[in-house]
Amino acid sequence: MKLKTILAAALLAFGLSAQAQIVIKFSHVVATDTPKGQASEFFAKRAAELTKGKVKVDVYPNSQLYKDKEEMEALQMGAVQMLAPSLAKFGPLGVKEFEVFDFPFIFDDRADLHKITQGPIGASLLAKLEPKGVKGLAFWDNGFKAFSANTPLKVPADFKGKKFRIQSSKVLEEQIRALGGIPQVMAFSEVYQALQTGVVDGTENPISNFYSQKMNEVQKFLTLTNHGYLGYAVIVNKKFWDGLPADVRGQLEQAMKEATDLANQVAQKDNDQALEGVKKAGKTTVYVPSKEERLALKKVLVPTHAKMADRVGKDLLESIYKATNFDPAKL
Ligand code: LMR
Repeated sequence: MKLKTILAAALLAFGLSAQAQIVIKFSHVVATDTPKGQASEFFAKRAAELTKGKVKVDVYPNSQLYKDKEEMEALQMGAVQMLAPSLAKFGPLGVKEFEVFDFPFIFDDRADLHKITQGPIGASLLAKLEPKGVKGLAFWDNGFKAFSANTPLKVPADFKGKKFRIQSSKVLEEQIRALGGIPQVMAFSEVYQALQTGVVDGTENPISNFYSQKMNEVQKFLTLTNHGYLGYAVIVNKKFWDGLPADVRGQLEQAMKEATDLANQVAQKDNDQALEGVKKAGKTTVYVPSKEERLALKKVLVPTHAKMADRVGKDLLESIYKATNFDPAKL
């Protein structure tokens, strides 16, 4: 009888541990109503479906758990398992090559961008994360950035002496300096208040981020410069990922593939809708620069490529130019 009880208890314990749910904490800094917000929720749903409940993905949006820099540390320590930081946030991790995505005007459009993020250059960039204990799973789109401030931003002289919040990227610092502005690195969650209180004068972001953080309430002018790109790499703690049962990892890879397709499908639409929202709210004047104005901006900003080439590696920069047919000498 006693033996039977012990056996039953052992079987129960084995059964429970065999079925123990795997929890993935997925932290991010933007609102749910953004390309990253939607794709992470979709990933959570598909992960639960495809693993038949073996995996539960808990998504924490809006810097609920961690701010920009802290979330990378939390991932490396294993306090969270998954993130989708913007590509600018990999420089501070020590993988400076990612700052190539911050180069102003390096991609003309999404087709150019996808040649890199969906091709061999993107894959080789993700592989560079592994020595940091981080595995890169995918690139998710957001969009091209607009500049905002409380005064109109039409020509380079309009940026002079103004403080602009940027992400922690040496390339973005150089970009603001080239315009005569003062770069101010700050966590995303602090931007609204900094704009409201005048700690900074302006900022740059895709419209989906601008609108979902209500920055339009505190910025009178938005110029659709599309001067640079902001998107994401989805990453996991490598030790955690490698330790998953192979079948579960395969199911999660499938969920990630579907979430990536969704992110890249909704990104443009979300930004278009956010722009409509900004216009409807009526607090911000939206300005579309003329061809000549955009070219003037380009002429000031593209020379930052040569200045920052050593930081990301000349070979990498050349390979991107080649893949996208970009010639900085011909503007
Ligand atoms: C920012 O800090 O401006 C962005 O990286 C936020 C984000 O994750 O889109």
